[in-house]
Amino acid sequence: MKKIGVGIIGAGGVGKRVLEAFLKHPKVFIVGICDVNEKILQELSESIGEVLLSTNHLDIIENEQIDLVYIAVPPKYHYPIVMEALENNKHVLCEKPLANSLQEAEAMWKTADEKDLVHAMNFPTYYRNAFKTMNQIIESNRLGTIQRIQVKSHFPDWPREWQKNNWINTREQGGFIREIMPHYIQLIQHLFGRIQDLHSIVTFPENCRQSETGLIATGQLENGIPLIFDGLSGTAENELMEFTIYGSYGIVTLKDWNNVFFGEKNQALTKIEDISPINHLLDLVDNVLKAINGDPATLVTFKEGYEVQRILENLLSYKETELQTI
Ligand SMILES: NC(=O)c1ccc[n+]([C@@H]2O[C@H](COP(=O)([O-])OP(=O)(O)OC[C@H]3O[C@@H](n4cnc5c(N)ncnc54)[C@H](O)[C@@H]3O)[C@@H](O)[C@H]2O)c1
Repeated sequence: MKKIGVGIIGAGGVGKRVLEAFLKHPKVFIVGICDVNEKILQELSESIGEVLLSTNHLDIIENEQIDLVYIAVPPKYHYPIVMEALENNKHVLCEKPLANSLQEAEAMWKTADEKDLVHAMNFPTYYRNAFKTMNQIIESNRLGTIQRIQVKSHFPDWPREWQKNNWINTREQGGFIREIMPHYIQLIQHLFGRIQDLHSIVTFPENCRQSETGLIATGQLENGIPLIFDGLSGTAENELMEFTIYGSYGIVTLKDWNNVFFGEKNQALTKIEDISPINHLLDLVDNVLKAINGDPATLVTFKEGYEVQRILENLLSYKETELQTI
């Protein structure tokens, strides 16, 4: 496998995490990193040394040594930067959610596909062993007939203390619906096919710039299995993140991304203890490199990102004014 030149645009919270995975991969060389925050570039120059550091993303996108661009800027900048990267014939790994509207997501997917470039997204849970364990339980038929799928994400505060930045609680591009729900939507559609017939109620705070405080949504899969999305912030409760599949014989729950609980009828749910941790981000990077080299790879493509966006926009389409007229 030849070494792949990588450029990174956006080196904030998640960008730095994926940068570490790139740095660990023997077939990657980091050519350059862009962030509009000069303090971040200064810190990077001290920690990783000799790479191109720039506040202008064109220095990455137009750089001929770069094969793959990883884009981890806030959501509303995904579309313009990804499209420019594709125009410059770069393979792209993009953060979730893919875009800030369905039209943007469709243009990104179709352009990448038409140009025959590798297009992948960072849905990390998909690469975790916890999800693989959950998947095995589902495939082994230990759940019996699946009756309901439920996603529950409750937060004492949104944003959480450790993720404060200038966009994550804005109605324009933040909120837990955009930040958290895509992970579950991707897993559900990967496991069971398209979600449809969504009805959602979204509650908002008085400040029209701030993101939602509540979500209740129902929908169903093509085979009729019902779904519930339940999100709440500012609640007098500890943080709770659960993705549960209810069956006639058994129940399986993914909690906090890493923990799987399983229980059979009339038994308590028990944590599955022997799930070995893996470097799931390194696995993601490895799969993106395989795809670039033309080898079989496990990727979440922009097509799946578009399908997630379809559901996301449906969840968000509820208008505050409708709430007021009820
Ligand atoms: N895959 C995951 O599990 C996961 C987790 C958290 C966040 N995310 C997604 O990753 C993206 C980034 O999230 P974050 O938490 O790292 O945010 P962040 O605000 O911590 O980092 C974003 C970085 O992008 C920089 N930036 C902004 N505009 C830029 C531009 N035009 N050019 C270059 N740099 C620019 C900012 O200075 C900042 O350092 C978001 O889309 C978010 O939804 C994904």
